[in-house]
Amino acid sequence: MISILLAISSFFLNPYRCCRRYFEKRGKPHLGIYGETPIPTLEQIVRLLQLSPQDTYVELGSGRGRGCFWVKRHIGCKVIGIEKNPYFIRIAKGIQKLTKIPVEFIQNDLFQQELLEGCAIYLYGTTLLDKEVEKIVRRLPSKCRIVTISYPLKGIPLKESIEVNFPWGKTEAYLHGR
Ligand SMILES: C[S@@+](CC[C@H](N)C(=O)[O-])C[C@H]1O[C@@H](n2cnc3c(N)ncnc32)[C@H](O)[C@@H]1O
Repeated sequence: MISILLAISSFFLNPYRCCRRYFEKRGKPHLGIYGETPIPTLEQIVRLLQLSPQDTYVELGSGRGRGCFWVKRHIGCKVIGIEKNPYFIRIAKGIQKLTKIPVEFIQNDLFQQELLEGCAIYLYGTTLLDKEVEKIVRRLPSKCRIVTISYPLKGIPLKESIEVNFPWGKTEAYLHGR
């Protein structure tokens, strides 16, 4: 159902073009490279995070919400997607309304977002600059776990890394926690 709704939405709004144009207009073209985490890779990430129904899962840069909906349906925990692009938020909230899958989508800058103590975070932001990644680390709650793709974070203990697949190739997912 979600895949069908996303496919229909792609017909009206190409997510790759939409993301590129949105961030180009705001002078941050490096943030405009869109891509969605493949579901088998997300399954690995959820296992790495050891997500349980009692957790709060936060996706930083949740795009059209595909991953958030999947996590909600398969784990059943509280799920929050943070996304700056209002077009993606509109799509995600539209799907949420149609499917009644209770995921919370917040339109916000991930560099400004207050994060809940103890939450489990996923960040697929392979094009972020070092100084932007440092900014995220500075805002992390004192207790949390976070998975990043392609690079480990400095300033939060690294627990484990695994090999994962994306359409563009193999890379590592890094689990950090404190
Ligand atoms: C590579 S996509 C990942 C989408 C989704 N997390 C997934 O894994 O399928 C990165 C997303 O982060 C969003 N993004 C980039 N910079 C952001 C910012 N400063 N605040 C919030 N969202 C941002 C983009 O609009 C895009 O939707």
